[in-house]
Amino acid sequence: MATMKFLLHDGSSRNVPLIDGTSLMQLARDHGVPGIDGDCGGACACGTCHVVVGSAWLKTVGARTAEEQQMLAMTPDVQPGSRLACQITASAALDGLEVRVPEYQM
Ligand code: FES
Repeated sequence: MATMKFLLHDGSSRNVPLIDGTSLMQLARDHGVPGIDGDCGGACACGTCHVVVGSAWLKTVGARTAEEQQMLAMTPDVQPGSRLACQITASAALDGLEVRVPEYQM
């Protein structure tokens, strides 16, 4: 099964299975990944699912939407690879993906 990894600020990580069609935010919540609260339920309206995608994965993961960009502008520690995990849909193409959870969310 395809999997991905959430890298946490304390140096630990959490592997989660990639279930096709499920957002990375929902996968994180389903597997108890700390720092991914998803307070708005995936409506791109809270910013509590902020993750940073490594540069090697940016093209595969895809670009931010305009709505996502607006939400990210209201969150701290935005970086070139910043995305909202609720706006990334799991698929086998993301097998091996690693994303970092920003320190302020921990
Ligand atoms: S869950 Fe609220 S913006 Fe992603």
